[in-house]
Amino acid sequence: MKVLIFETEEDAKRDAAGRLLRQIQLSPTSVLGLATGGTMEAVYAHLIQMTLHQSVSWSGVTTFNLDEYWGIPSDSPASYRTYMNAHLFDHVDITRSSTHVPASNGRDPRDAAQAYEDAISAVGGIDLQLLGIGKNGHIGFNEPTSSLSSTTRIKTLTDDTRRANRRYFDRLEDVPKYALTVGIGTILSSNECLIVGTGPEKAAAVKSMIEGPVSAVCPASALQMHRNVTVVIDEQAAQDLELMDYYQHVHPAGQEVEISDV
Ligand code: GLP
Repeated sequence: MKVLIFETEEDAKRDAAGRLLRQIQLSPTSVLGLATGGTMEAVYAHLIQMTLHQSVSWSGVTTFNLDEYWGIPSDSPASYRTYMNAHLFDHVDITRSSTHVPASNGRDPRDAAQAYEDAISAVGGIDLQLLGIGKNGHIGFNEPTSSLSSTTRIKTLTDDTRRANRRYFDRLEDVPKYALTVGIGTILSSNECLIVGTGPEKAAAVKSMIEGPVSAVCPASALQMHRNVTVVIDEQAAQDLELMDYYQHVHPAGQEVEISDV
């Protein structure tokens, strides 16, 4: 894992946005895996600003979101489809039919899950998978004890996760109990992963992800098995890391250092 520790939350989120932008600049027909949550709001705000500032076109880009609540209309204010439109898609020139978010309702979540996996395979897989991290170490909505080789499926949300996402709903009772999420195996099949975590409330999960054993108890720890992962965190999220000095030595202030510069 490449561990990049930034002094501030803003620096971390700006860096993550820059990485997404570079991916599109290098490959205008990129397939991006996208994430939601509070962390990504600022990442997307920076990304929109950079996109407009540098006149980057998203017209060739395809996106697949990680997850969606199950059992609400997809145009409900709290759906991840609504979130993505508001925080990103409405502001760039992406073709709306090239943006994919798992289904939020339907007869059979298993059919919806298989259709989503098929759609990802049909475009040749994800080039760059953006991820946030839950306080309990979840990625997407793969809650602790998710199979490390899972594919898209319906998952029951933990009470902690429902409480953490309560702010998007009127009442806790309104937070769906289920979600459709791509699996950990799906995430591990992507070409590259970029995971962003900031703030002290993510410190324990970040420590388990980077330095803990690979375990279904911390789904993000499965990323240790991926060959191309960049972890972008701030100092607060990094505070529990035992090898902090090493990470900061390799990437001072989160910067990339070419071996030829050493
Ligand atoms: C939700 C999403 C996750 C996200 C997590 C963290 O549970 N399903 O994909 O990583 O929230 O969100 P936040 O950035 O708000 O802490």
